[in-house]
Amino acid sequence: MTDDHDDNAPPVIAIDGPTASGKGTIAQRVADAFGWHYLDSGALYRIAALRALRAGTPLDDEEALAALARALAPQFAQGRILVDGQDVADAIRAEAVGSAASRIAVHPALRAALVDLQRSFRRPPGLVADGRDMGTAIFPDASLKVFLTASAESRAIRRHKQLIEKGFSANLTDLLLDLRERDARDMQRASAPLKPAQGALLLDSTDLTIEQTVEAVLDAYRRRTES
Ligand code: DC
Repeated sequence: MTDDHDDNAPPVIAIDGPTASGKGTIAQRVADAFGWHYLDSGALYRIAALRALRAGTPLDDEEALAALARALAPQFAQGRILVDGQDVADAIRAEAVGSAASRIAVHPALRAALVDLQRSFRRPPGLVADGRDMGTAIFPDASLKVFLTASAESRAIRRHKQLIEKGFSANLTDLLLDLRERDARDMQRASAPLKPAQGALLLDSTDLTIEQTVEAVLDAYRRRTES
């Protein structure tokens, strides 16, 4: 694991923020606009959580979780996520899996086990990475760091819509409660807590459309790299 800046390393845009802040959509669109790679780091935590749930691994067994995470070799292709030949792209979006992901993410050994896998996504011509600690821990030399937020209520409404569209049942009040709980856990954990990286662009998307939010990120990147 190294944090040293390498001038030849492909550029990274790091987009961090709380659950359901729209990071995934925004990051994917920014990656598409530049023709860059995209890393959904939350998906890796969710894959680890899904495996743990299916294997019956206790969510507080740090060493067993780290071993399970070290063995992960997921393949991302055209919206599918293959783990051991099985597509888990939909299964990892279930609320129970997101909640378990947030629980296992508090363990430093589990987080350390996922570092190299996350950094392996940094390939030419560039990478847009979204998560909680992309700018603070995984890619501290990112060219642009964005901290994307939105009010808890608007995030709950967005998550509700997403889940219904995917065919999951969902209750708005429960989602809001769960989202506040998850925010608190992600922000208060000792290991790589969710917080804006130094120098991050703070972007509140509550009253912005997806297009406006994407444009704000593209604009900020152009300004930072031109100066
Ligand atoms: O972004 P998401 O909702 O898919 O992430 C699920 C959980 O994974 C989140 O609650 C905390 C954890 N996570 C993390 O700790 N660090 C990351 N870089 C990404 C996700």
